[in-house]
Amino acid sequence: MLRGRRIVLGLTGSIAAYKSAYLLRLLTGAGAEVRVVMTPGAKEFITPLTLGTLSGHPVVSELTEDREAGTWTHHVELGLWGDLILVAPATAHTLSGMAEGRGDSLLLTVLLSAKCPVIVAPAMDRDMWLHPATQANITQLGERGVELVPPGTGELASGLVGVGRMAEPEDILEHLQGWFAKKAPLAGRRALVTAGPTHEPVDAVRFLGNRSSGRMGLCLAQELARRGCAVDLVCGPLSLGEDEIQHMTGHPLINKIDVETATEMHTAALQALLREPDCDLIIGAAAVADARPAAPIKGKASGSALPDHIDLVSNPDILADLASKRPEGCVAIGFSLASDDGLEAAKKKLATKKCDLIILNSIADQGSGFGHKTNRIRMVWPGNRIDSFELKSKAQVAVDILDAYQNMDR
Ligand SMILES: Cc1cc2nc3c(=O)[nH]c(=O)nc-3n(C[C@H](O)[C@H](O)[C@H](O)COP(=O)(O)O)c2cc1C
Repeated sequence: MLRGRRIVLGLTGSIAAYKSAYLLRLLTGAGAEVRVVMTPGAKEFITPLTLGTLSGHPVVSELTEDREAGTWTHHVELGLWGDLILVAPATAHTLSGMAEGRGDSLLLTVLLSAKCPVIVAPAMDRDMWLHPATQANITQLGERGVELVPPGTGELASGLVGVGRMAEPEDILEHLQGWFAKKAPLAGRRALVTAGPTHEPVDAVRFLGNRSSGRMGLCLAQELARRGCAVDLVCGPLSLGEDEIQHMTGHPLINKIDVETATEMHTAALQALLREPDCDLIIGAAAVADARPAAPIKGKASGSALPDHIDLVSNPDILADLASKRPEGCVAIGFSLASDDGLEAAKKKLATKKCDLIILNSIADQGSGFGHKTNRIRMVWPGNRIDSFELKSKAQVAVDILDAYQNMDR
């Protein structure tokens, strides 16, 4: 459930901070990537060296990194990086800062700039916990969507016995696993997505290809990862900027495999399909060249040496082959690009490729198909059911397709 999840772990100045070293071990052991932010108070209880070593990343605690050099910690980036911020232990002081919206520690500024959900595991003396001010802060934070891992009852550092102990690390881990299971409906599943065009060499510099940018397949991979699904993304040569590709495929749940030709895509996709654990979903969004030059010319042919005609041989039908070899229960979704209405061809494709759903798009629709950031699709289902959609961003189309997948009776 936590594999590939990005968690910002905030530590504050409580004696329970020592337990967070073990909690950090549990989180990384469960596959999460963890970055640690400490308040200056937390450093009185446990060293950044311990947490930095356990997390494998430098620990940050000050707003300014090097006063002389004028560098500072990018709290906004950390707040955007995480899928979740977990503050454990959370002191009464930091909880009040969160409730008030104060920014007087790096951790509080990270919390203020974060877009992701926040979970707190308070730890404090019984009377501090039961104080109306603390309880009011907890209520207020709860109303803002901050989730609570309630403190337990037992012996406290003060010598008192009562409520206030930070929940045990195993219980916090279990809470997070349950939380991700709720928020990530496809957690624990694996998908195979093909994207982009293929390039079939004519000689060392020329190729047969098409105008697919790969955006639709990348949007699907990105949305799958957001829903907690691990993705093998087999990409032909994409025509998107490096930064955009990195942004769309950088999620740790996405395993991007670059290929050039249809034959390479076929081999890579089959390998990914047959790898353990079983694949739950195949989406063939790549625009695979149907044929390739039978005998590519070695080196670069000079203009006069180019042949009058090029013999072609058929490429493997990747989607049909994947669909026929998929494990039981695995859903196969294909794409069909038309230059006219294309409905009859899409219905035929659904049957011949043994898919569960065909996504039909047509370049006849303005803003649809290759090279656009938008797409208008129709979903072609077995039994002649057709669902038509408006023109939407490809990111939103990916949402529609995966909502349809989640709603399938399987
Ligand atoms: C030995 C010791 C233990 C403490 N334990 C706690 C605690 O468990 N919970 C808490 O809210 N404050 C505790 N405090 C008080 C906090 O460290 C103090 O309020 C500090 O300002 C918290 O700052 P921070 O939230 O920015 O880390 C403790 C202080 C000391 C000296």
